[in-house]
Amino acid sequence: METGLLVNEVLDTNAMTALIVCKNGTVVFINKTYLHILGKEEEEVIGKYIGDITPETRTLTVIKTGKAIVGYNWSINGYNMIACSLPLIRNGKLLGCFAYSLFMDIWDAKDLVDNLMTELNMYRDEVRNLHSARYTFAEIIGQAPNIQDVKILAQKAALHPSITVLIRGESGTGKELFAHAIHRASNRSRMSFIRVNCAAIPEHLLEAELFGYEEGAFTGARKGGSPGKFELANGGTIFLDEIGEMSLTMQSKLLVFLQEREFERLGSHDPIRVNVRVIAATNRNLEEMISQQKFREDLYYRLNVLSLDIPPLRDHVEDIPQLVKYLIPKLNVDLKTNVTSMSDEAITLLSQYNWPGNIRELINVLQRAIILADMGDDDTITTKQLCFMQVKNESGKTVSSHTLKSLIKDYERQILIKVLEETNYNKTKAANILDIDLSWLYKKLKQYGIPPDNA
Ligand SMILES: Nc1ncnc2c1ncn2[C@@H]1O[C@H](COP(=O)(O)OP(=O)(O)OP(=O)(O)O)[C@@H](O)[C@H]1O
Ligand SMILES: [Mg+2]
Repeated sequence: METGLLVNEVLDTNAMTALIVCKNGTVVFINKTYLHILGKEEEEVIGKYIGDITPETRTLTVIKTGKAIVGYNWSINGYNMIACSLPLIRNGKLLGCFAYSLFMDIWDAKDLVDNLMTELNMYRDEVRNLHSARYTFAEIIGQAPNIQDVKILAQKAALHPSITVLIRGESGTGKELFAHAIHRASNRSRMSFIRVNCAAIPEHLLEAELFGYEEGAFTGARKGGSPGKFELANGGTIFLDEIGEMSLTMQSKLLVFLQEREFERLGSHDPIRVNVRVIAATNRNLEEMISQQKFREDLYYRLNVLSLDIPPLRDHVEDIPQLVKYLIPKLNVDLKTNVTSMSDEAITLLSQYNWPGNIRELINVLQRAIILADMGDDDTITTKQLCFMQVKNESGKTVSSHTLKSLIKDYERQILIKVLEETNYNKTKAANILDIDLSWLYKKLKQYGIPPDNA
């Protein structure tokens, strides 16, 4: 069948009007249905300026802007239609505009609603991706019994979408990964997953961040106010990361929310009710903090409905081979490298290490090793590429490399630990002494796998 013929058939269907104007606004095509609606003959329209025929036309705007106008109401001579005006572009040059419209009878309207629903779902998916949990349980690697037990418990937690979950574990063990996976496996997965890092937001801003505010609530408050994270997470999950860093004042406010499931925006007295699951995480020893009166006991009980203790990597080193196998291809994608495997000796070396920074540190080590292997054109990582690691060898001696970079890093690491110990792990003080931002300090601690507390 000739395509040209088909196009004519399509354009001349009774169900729609069709019109093509060239870039100076003159009509080059109009179908019979549209002529009928306008009550005109073809020769009265072809070659004429469209603005003179239908002054309200959107086609001229499309020609001017080069941008499509989709799904607007087009009413003419008593016919109500839904129309689209699309730019016609060839080799990057605007040639004109194609406009068509569909009648709004009941069946058209149904189709229209269906189409709008498809579009709405598309936008919903987009928004969900923006506020979404990235990881699933399948991405939590580990066959060791201690990891498997936590996984099973977390999967159970996922099935109870209102239970508050407290995730505990050293830095880099996968607390955030578990929070994502629980959300993804729950029936809240289509709704938002909102993460709040309680350590990164200054105390005086955290309340507004969590509960939102009304216009004029404080100096600098945005016009029209702003919803807080609890509102944004409605229907979904809020992940309160580093909960141990929350001030006592905020802890009280959070407690009230957990009891009432209601809150007020700053500067408002209207209670807002939301349905969110709370997942909190910390690498701090909350029981010790309670005894030091740094963490509210009543909040602890509210949060600790179901507690997941993620084991440190040194307690499941048997998972290292599987982790390495899983992580190498992923890192290859990020680093644009082609390293394929790791030698048995190298795996043994990794299994002997203490991993203070846990799986995050393993990822860092693998990144460096992959880069070194790639630079040496090796497709297998051997102990040669792990020489930068400080691993105790059989005789108990620390083996380390002596490149300037690694020496500087070792020195930086030691300074961080020393200052933290001197300040009794008070991060704000430590950051002041070192004259760096608190967030930078946290970044460095993560980078070196130094736990931010002395637990
Ligand atoms: N079991 C696992 N399998 C695969 N990847 C993992 C696993 N656990 C952690 N990871 C990866 O390790 C990195 C650190 O994990 P995550 O951020 O969840 O740790 P965390 O416990 O929240 O650390 P922190 O206390 O420092 O915030 C992430 O890149 C994560 O994807
Ligand atoms: Mg984390």
